[in-house]
Amino acid sequence: MKETDTAWRALPAHSPVYLALALCALLGCACAAPYNQVSPVITMEQLLWVSGRVIGAVDTYRIPLITYTPRGHLLAFTEARKYSSSDLGAKFIATRRSQDGGYTWSATSFIADDGTVADGLSLGAVVVDDETKNIFLIYSLCAHYLKCSTASIMITNSSNDGVTWSPPRNLSREVGTTMFEAGPGYGIQKKFSPSKGRLIVCGHGTLNEDGVFCLLSDDHGMHWRKGGKLQGLPFKQAKKMGDFTPDECQPYELPDGSVIINARNQYFYHCHCRIVVTSFDGCDSLPLENVRFDEGLTDPAVAAGALYKGGRVYFTNPSNATHRVNLTLRWSFDSGNSWQSDSFQIWPAASGYSCITSLSGRVEDQENIYVIYEKGRKDITESIAIVKINLYGNL
Ligand SMILES: *[C@@H]1O[C@H](CO)[C@@H](O)[C@H](O)[C@H]1NC(C)=O
Ligand SMILES: *[C@@H]1O[C@H](CO)[C@@H](O)[C@H](O)[C@H]1NC(C)=O
Ligand SMILES: *[C@@H]1O[C@H](CO)[C@@H](O)[C@H](O)[C@H]1NC(C)=O
Ligand SMILES: *[C@@H]1O[C@H](CO)[C@@H](O)[C@H](O)[C@H]1NC(C)=O
Repeated sequence: MKETDTAWRALPAHSPVYLALALCALLGCACAAPYNQVSPVITMEQLLWVSGRVIGAVDTYRIPLITYTPRGHLLAFTEARKYSSSDLGAKFIATRRSQDGGYTWSATSFIADDGTVADGLSLGAVVVDDETKNIFLIYSLCAHYLKCSTASIMITNSSNDGVTWSPPRNLSREVGTTMFEAGPGYGIQKKFSPSKGRLIVCGHGTLNEDGVFCLLSDDHGMHWRKGGKLQGLPFKQAKKMGDFTPDECQPYELPDGSVIINARNQYFYHCHCRIVVTSFDGCDSLPLENVRFDEGLTDPAVAAGALYKGGRVYFTNPSNATHRVNLTLRWSFDSGNSWQSDSFQIWPAASGYSCITSLSGRVEDQENIYVIYEKGRKDITESIAIVKINLYGNL
């Protein structure tokens, strides 16, 4: 199969998966997953963005995000790094929409453009308010202080499912100019108490403020404030290998109302694995005593994907202690406390950041997840790919 081909396999209408799901829907049960095991298969893959000035003039696409939308569609975002692959430099935020479950995508449009600045914008997190149907996108400016001295957090919103976006608002006026890079990944809206309805966007600071921080809104995104933080050690000092430095992160909520934040362990404190912190108060606090190291999730220090869906937790990262290769999907039947011994390799070669979403509403949505990730034969910067994975397709 050529990488650029869209390949997919439809399940026959009489498949036991559909029957189980249809029965589930008919009985109106709080349908968790239809089977007591997961056996994934990729049913569709395509490259959403290709780096190297092959299509258009953009040098490199990096930092992919994916979300469902209020209308049940998919929205993908990425940094379009205009002149080089560097984290710094000038960028656009590129976006594409799919209205058919990921099979076809709109042409790329651009949400924000920072011109030609030395230290351009950084993505970022997307969060859907399911109550108001607003979608928020949060990104940063001057995150590395190169030829600029004040970092800013910017927010834009879309009330029409991601078709158009508001002029960006400078959130630093409310939450301060401490450097903060959201995500990269999605933010959440609390579905269970405490703080049901709250919007939570977590990310990391750098330099003197290393660690994980969250921004919270209890009024549907009108006002934001800083919530809990989990600071790196030693405090306010340059870190070195072996220091505790929780970094890029992805939160998800469990049905008991707790929020789990799965974070990059930047300097491999304790292990080459993920840092996990649990908040029981809607991310008002991220207590140090709620931190654990997930030895089951070997990690080379990267932004990973995590999603709670139908009683299971799914996790994607390049599963290798030292190299960004081997993008792997794992699943947990006990809220992420342990991971099933089998796993699913999405891509063997170069793979970097990833983000997971899923749709809901249609019966077949229960069996699929979507993973967007940095994919290459040699380098993670080569392209941004999306895969649709049927979680039970191999049963
Ligand atoms: C969304 O953007 C519009 C247009 O700028 C603005 O009027 C509105 O207040 C924003 N909504 C929120 C919740 O930020
Ligand atoms: C955002 O607001 C902060 C605080 O007022 C300010 O220092 C910063 O320059 C602003 N950033 C932009 C891009 O306007
Ligand atoms: C890929 O991940 C699997 C599962 O963690 C692991 O067993 C395997 O050694 C990894 N392969 C490489 C090349 O990293
Ligand atoms: C991790 O990836 C490197 C580079 O591809 C490879 O040499 C190594 O064997 C991998 N580790 C494992 C445990 O598979």
